[in-house]
Amino acid sequence: MHPELNPFTPGSGLEPPRLAGRDHEVSAFDLLVARSLAGRQGASIVLHGYRGVGKTVLLNAMREQAERAGWLCIDVEAQTSDAGPTAIRQRIGRKLLEAAESFKNGKSYTAAIRRALGTLTGFSLSLGVVSIETAREPTNGRASSGILEVDLEELVEDFAGALRESGTAVGIFIDEMQDVDTELLSALLTVQNRAGQKNIPFYVVGAGLPTLPARLATSRSYAERLFEYRHVGALSAESAVAAIRDPLSRYGFGIDDDALDLLTGAARGYPYFLQMMGREAWNLTDKRQISLETAERALNSAYAILDQGYFRSSWDRADTAERAILRCMAATDDADEYPVDQIADRCGLDASYFAAARESLETKGVIFAVGPGRIAFTTPGMPGHVNRRAAGLA
Ligand SMILES: Nc1ncnc2c1ncn2[C@@H]1O[C@H](COP(=O)(O)OP(=O)(O)O)[C@@H](O)[C@H]1O
Ligand SMILES: [Mg+2]
Repeated sequence: MHPELNPFTPGSGLEPPRLAGRDHEVSAFDLLVARSLAGRQGASIVLHGYRGVGKTVLLNAMREQAERAGWLCIDVEAQTSDAGPTAIRQRIGRKLLEAAESFKNGKSYTAAIRRALGTLTGFSLSLGVVSIETAREPTNGRASSGILEVDLEELVEDFAGALRESGTAVGIFIDEMQDVDTELLSALLTVQNRAGQKNIPFYVVGAGLPTLPARLATSRSYAERLFEYRHVGALSAESAVAAIRDPLSRYGFGIDDDALDLLTGAARGYPYFLQMMGREAWNLTDKRQISLETAERALNSAYAILDQGYFRSSWDRADTAERAILRCMAATDDADEYPVDQIADRCGLDASYFAAARESLETKGVIFAVGPGRIAFTTPGMPGHVNRRAAGLA
């Protein structure tokens, strides 16, 4: 019904009609913002979890919270491409310049603002973001050594006065943070650490894959104390219900209990799937009350779309040995977790091949270790896809 009005948002980083089940994260971040405005320190936050669980959406929500409170916010996304390191530096430099514009706000420059802008010019020049001709403020010789860590630290130090004067903070919000290059990552961690010690309101807020905390710990040994790490995972049953029912009722739609059970049961709290199923149910219903029959059709339609896109991309990235493991896991009846021994026995790979293929599937984020000797798929519904493939249906 009226697909043009469909409120559901399956995709990447698309703001959902209802940000369900993330109240704890939102209030933890609110507290950090409130403390920063009161001149108090707090550990910044790093979100980690598999793709499709809602990290980007949550990071964006946090940035908006911070912006509303007057923080100068910079949002960047790291990329693995060769151009990635240059692109992210330039974006940070450019966004800092934009953010610094707000210091002016019709007021005359104080000495602290002049200092911040002068150092920022030096920093931007060394990153190649502005040239001498376009620089608005004369440089002061700071933040221009060309050594990123040193320059970033001087920059943040020289911003401190202006930030305190205007009662604000700087937040760098980094998505896909596991892909930040080593040099920039260690510079950011060092500066975050120094800022904490000197009570400078500068915060790096990050989101990334489950490998992110380990990557940060390898970069700087104190990284585990620098951030509050928050695992972003599946929504609780109650939040999953809210994610589907609330947007429907906002537009005067309802859904039968058994229909809702079917959709939330299949999605297992996985936000991307909840959006996908909600969208299909909305499109397929011809009444304002979604029935079980419509939900069944919606589920089939959602799986058909996922088979062509989402699931397929995981399958395509797996090589022959890895696919043998996936088939073997999927053939085990409706399990949430699989004993590694059992899968290793059944999939017919040599022990060393099995170990390598399993590790590769973990690195690719298709499966993960639930605990000692047990593995699971990172997304619900993947076994169904593998079985549909085996049966020639996908
Ligand atoms: N809390 C939530 N409640 C409902 N839907 C959500 C929630 N968080 C994310 N989504 C939806 O889930 C999908 C994936 O979100 P995204 O932030 O891109 O995940 P990630 O960055 O972890 O891969 C999007 O379709 C988004 O609209
Ligand atoms: Mg994301």
